[in-house]
Amino acid sequence: MARIKLVVNGQKRELDLDPTMPLLWVLRDYLGLTGTKYACGIAQCGACTVHVEGVPIRSCVFPVSAVQGKEITTIEGLSKNNDHPIQIAWIEEQVPQCGYCQSGQIMTAASLLKRNSSPTEEEIDNVMSSVLCRCGTYPRIKIAIQKVSGE
Ligand code: FES
Ligand code: FES
Repeated sequence: MARIKLVVNGQKRELDLDPTMPLLWVLRDYLGLTGTKYACGIAQCGACTVHVEGVPIRSCVFPVSAVQGKEITTIEGLSKNNDHPIQIAWIEEQVPQCGYCQSGQIMTAASLLKRNSSPTEEEIDNVMSSVLCRCGTYPRIKIAIQKVSGE
């Protein structure tokens, strides 16, 4: 065990943890931030995507010791009132079906638009296809991202 210092959604947190524990476990089980989902557990699906210093990472395979002192943002911290442009577009376009993959989709889309405010259709497809959605919401995901990028 080790004393681990984290900054999660702007708040400083200190916890005694196994430093090899995946960040996803810490977020969900120790900090109660259950918006980030566990699915494959092997960095293949993207359901567990959060931002570290603004960069999307797969928190199911990222040891908590690697993010000490870095700014971690989860779906709960993406905006104050669920009013990030991507969240608004997601609601307007009724993107989710079962919803399980959607925090990973939203965190991935938000980071794509931060890097490139006007992605091409191909760029959207390339980036968003890496986050698996068994419900097949990709057409609406694309429309929502295009809506934000066109604004
Ligand atoms: S749960 Fe992390 S990538 Fe699937
Ligand atoms: S909305 Fe159901 S898995 Fe994506």
